[in-house]
Amino acid sequence: MSVHKEVKKVTTNTLQEMKRKGEKIAMLTAYDFSMAKIIDAAGIDVILVGDSASNVMAGHETTLPITLDQMIYHAASVIRGVDRALVVVDLPFGSYQGNSKEALTSAIRVMKESGAHAVKMEGGKEIEESVKRILSAGIPVMGHLGLTPQSIYKFGTYNVRAKEEEEAKRLIEDAHVLEKAGCFAIVLEKIPAALATQAATEISVPMIGIGAGSGVDGQVLVLHDMLGLNVGFNPRFLRRYLNLFDDIKQAVGSYVSDVKAKDFPNAGEQY
Ligand code: KIV
Repeated sequence: MSVHKEVKKVTTNTLQEMKRKGEKIAMLTAYDFSMAKIIDAAGIDVILVGDSASNVMAGHETTLPITLDQMIYHAASVIRGVDRALVVVDLPFGSYQGNSKEALTSAIRVMKESGAHAVKMEGGKEIEESVKRILSAGIPVMGHLGLTPQSIYKFGTYNVRAKEEEEAKRLIEDAHVLEKAGCFAIVLEKIPAALATQAATEISVPMIGIGAGSGVDGQVLVLHDMLGLNVGFNPRFLRRYLNLFDDIKQAVGSYVSDVKAKDFPNAGEQY
């Protein structure tokens, strides 16, 4: 008799069903095998291999420099650690904008070379054709509206988006365009809570918020932010669950002291 317990995997249908039942979706980013294994074991529903890897893994100021090859490397590492969660991978800047054929090629590379389950793209009406083309190949697409970090040089700041009526109206229109094009979910980043609630009410697919209040269908945070590894970043929407920067610094400090004091390794820690 097999003792192997079958895990019920999260799919895009699961998320749709969760929205229907009013059950909130929990999503976090991850970029490597070890972290992905931990957050999957903890019951996370969706893992985003975000292009925030450009910031928190590579130390860049923006998400623009990360390449498709680098995203695929992170995604393949994450996939090897995951049994249950749905794994979504950001298509990086320059791999899909303004060219639906290139968008499809990039999405196929992500799926084929990493084993991920879906891709995410930033933008509304301007990516409609690419979303449809990627979907025509059977690849699920998650949208991303509001503060879309790949457009930081257009916005000029990381401030809250869509506070003015015109941009708010455009965001709702874009959400309808993405829903109609076939996106299975949409991330709403740093927009007024009332606007996000309106989107989650009007749109049939799950809305996952980051800095978008509690009226949406799920929440996403960058793992390094919520674990307190990325100490310089303190937006109002962020809740820190650990202070790993300080904890790791203290642990490494103790190790350094033990080595210097010839206390490590001791008699029981050698052969
Ligand atoms: O790249 C990322 O981590 C993201 C989240 C902030 C949603 O897109």
